[in-house]
Amino acid sequence: MTPTRETFGNIPLSSQLAFYALAALSMAVFAWGVYRRWKLWRLGTSINARDLIAGSLAQVWRKIRPGAARVAVEAGAQQRVRGHGLGTVAHLSLYAGFMVLFAGTVLLEIDNVLSNIWKGFKFHHGTYYVIYEFTLDVLGLVFILGVLLFMVRRVRKPAALGHRPTDWYVLLAFLAIGVTGYQVEALRLLWQQPTGLGAQCSPVGLWLADMLSPMTEAEARSQHFAVWWIHAFLVFGFIASIPFTRLFHFIAGPMNLFLAKPALGTLPPVTMEEVEATGRVGPADIRHFSQQQLLSLDACMECGRCEEVCPAFATEKPLSPKRVVQDLKGAMEKTAAALAAGKEAEVPALHEATISAETLWSCTACSACVNTCPVRINQLEFILTLRRHLVAEGGLSGTAATALRRMQSNGNPWGLPAAERTAWTDALKTKT
Ligand code: HEM
Ligand code: SF4
Ligand code: SF4
Repeated sequence: MTPTRETFGNIPLSSQLAFYALAALSMAVFAWGVYRRWKLWRLGTSINARDLIAGSLAQVWRKIRPGAARVAVEAGAQQRVRGHGLGTVAHLSLYAGFMVLFAGTVLLEIDNVLSNIWKGFKFHHGTYYVIYEFTLDVLGLVFILGVLLFMVRRVRKPAALGHRPTDWYVLLAFLAIGVTGYQVEALRLLWQQPTGLGAQCSPVGLWLADMLSPMTEAEARSQHFAVWWIHAFLVFGFIASIPFTRLFHFIAGPMNLFLAKPALGTLPPVTMEEVEATGRVGPADIRHFSQQQLLSLDACMECGRCEEVCPAFATEKPLSPKRVVQDLKGAMEKTAAALAAGKEAEVPALHEATISAETLWSCTACSACVNTCPVRINQLEFILTLRRHLVAEGGLSGTAATALRRMQSNGNPWGLPAAERTAWTDALKTKT
């Protein structure tokens, strides 16, 4: 017998129709959630994204190639996620499992749709089916392992990792999706009773089926139907909740990797035309950042890597680059709410109300945070452009202001008189 299985086997037509209706509903909630975030990014100054797709095919490709390469290598191959102990092992495991299971589900649906359009067309059988079933069966375990390792990480609560109530919902939902997926497979094997390779290519499912038997075919069919629906509900809940949980990083992260302009140590120039047109230097409210910068705030999954490498944070200065990103994200949300209510006066100011001058001046501009961020958020650019505004408003204070004043009056930041310029050489008895 050719190894294969019926798509939607044991699922009546009415349930199949309800399944597609719920799938459409969960995707509509997902699209609405993404649209809400997209509207927030639109508060920023334009990045002329349309320019990217203007011109001939060759020109478009030249423009998008660097971004596409970053997405492929840094998101697709998870290059910037590596090198972080348990967090990395957990993520690579969960990511690999998720991507393979996702690709498997898409292939199954393609096979289903195509075979319904062209009667007799079906690729989900034979050797392909055996490889498909075996890969998905094993990668399901890798996925569950990733979820369990993330749970261990959450229980350990590393100080730099952000904590939100929905974090446990995400991990428990993933675990339940993995476990019910295996249950559906085992119960299907019990009523389908495949033989030969078709039975052996799902080792985990088969092992579970052995544990569940003895069971009559009717019992297996009725339990399969019930668990199939629970599994489907869990998946729809997961899809709908992506834009409302930390999971949104896998949409905004690659988008930011694509649009980011990686250039360590450089700052966007300020032109006189710009200052004359806007009447300010540097951002004073969230709308003065670019659309890409606002999108980058949503890409932050609060992994805490930037905080861990920040020398200012390590020396107990009042600065955490992760906090800066999260505070700006909060300001973006409050600004949108104030504008939607028509209350311009309630738009939060960035300086002091959102981020204090002390925080901004604590940064050593070392770039360690920018270097380590897995989704290339440029925390330093936020900090330095905010500082620019403080300087332009005469807000420079403390040692930085004193050093600049002394440079102006004495030609050195210590305020030493010019006559003492060579005093340090006296002890050296150098001939002049
Ligand atoms: C697209 C590129 C992606 C990047 C660059 C990325 C990056 C990251 C990073 C750096 C973390 C923090 C890991 C740590 O705690 O050290 C994380 C957490 C996580 N990611 Fe991703 N991720 C991506 C895609 C995905 C995908 C496709 C999924 C699966 C659906 C996923 C699910 C998760 C989950 C569940 C967490 C853990 C949340 C928690 O701490 O509870 N990510 N991601
Ligand atoms: S650039 Fe500033 S915020 Fe980033 S790690 Fe260095 S000191 Fe910390
Ligand atoms: S800014 Fe980047 S490195 Fe820092 S917590 Fe967010 S995602 Fe992690």
